[in-house]
Amino acid sequence: MRPLPSRSRKNGGISLGLFALCLAAARCLQSQGVSLYIPQSAINATVEEDILLSVEYSCHGVPTIEWRYTSNWGVQKIVEWKPGTQANISQSHKDRVCTFDNGSIQLFSVGVRDSGYYVITVTESLGSSQFGTIVLHVSEILYEDLHFVAVFLAFLTAVAAMLISLMWVCNKCAYKFQRKRRHKLKESTTEEIELQDVEC
Ligand SMILES: *[C@@H]1O[C@H](CO)[C@@H](O)[C@H](O)[C@H]1NC(C)=O
Ligand SMILES: *[C@@H]1O[C@H](CO)[C@@H](O)[C@H](O)[C@H]1NC(C)=O
Ligand SMILES: *[C@@H]1O[C@H](CO)[C@@H](O)[C@H](O)[C@H]1NC(C)=O
Repeated sequence: MRPLPSRSRKNGGISLGLFALCLAAARCLQSQGVSLYIPQSAINATVEEDILLSVEYSCHGVPTIEWRYTSNWGVQKIVEWKPGTQANISQSHKDRVCTFDNGSIQLFSVGVRDSGYYVITVTESLGSSQFGTIVLHVSEILYEDLHFVAVFLAFLTAVAAMLISLMWVCNKCAYKFQRKRRHKLKESTTEEIELQDVEC
């Protein structure tokens, strides 16, 4: 009963080795096909900005490049083209996208709802393909603007309040001072009158 488990282990070892070899071969074939380089896989932008989804590929022959947009609302095809030919841009992105020969696309004047995942697929004429993803986050600038305006208004109000109270205090002081002077003036005139009386 001893040799049996060892033989089965041997068989297992051989099939595992074969499997690993197949995997390596597949890897090798795949890496011979398309390679894709994405320098920036996450982009933060604000509304109205023009965004370059920058990629670079290398492969044999002329591939087909396709960009899809994925968000909470589903998947949408943006554009498909072969470098050097006219791009087929979807209706939803007409006049908003321009394509480059290295596979990059530029989105013009993005909005908050352009946030999401942009998936590029580069497919070689032989059939092998490679995909990559860029995450775009577009934020509203309006909020920050309003925040700034609110802070500025608060500052102005504070300055105005300080000025008004300062003027009030000055006014009060001036009034008191005038009253004192008038009082003194009155006193001096009565003194003079008294003096005159004495002289007489
Ligand atoms: C984008 O913004 C998030 C926070 O909103 C931050 O964590 C991330 O590092 C930013 N990425 C880039 C590339 O600026
Ligand atoms: C792709 O081409 C565009 C336009 O020429 C360029 O701005 C961009 O940097 C290129 N991308 C890469 C990864 O080289
Ligand atoms: C462009 O894409 C649409 C939808 O994917 C397709 O019906 C149409 O045939 C394409 N046009 C060209 C010229 O490839």
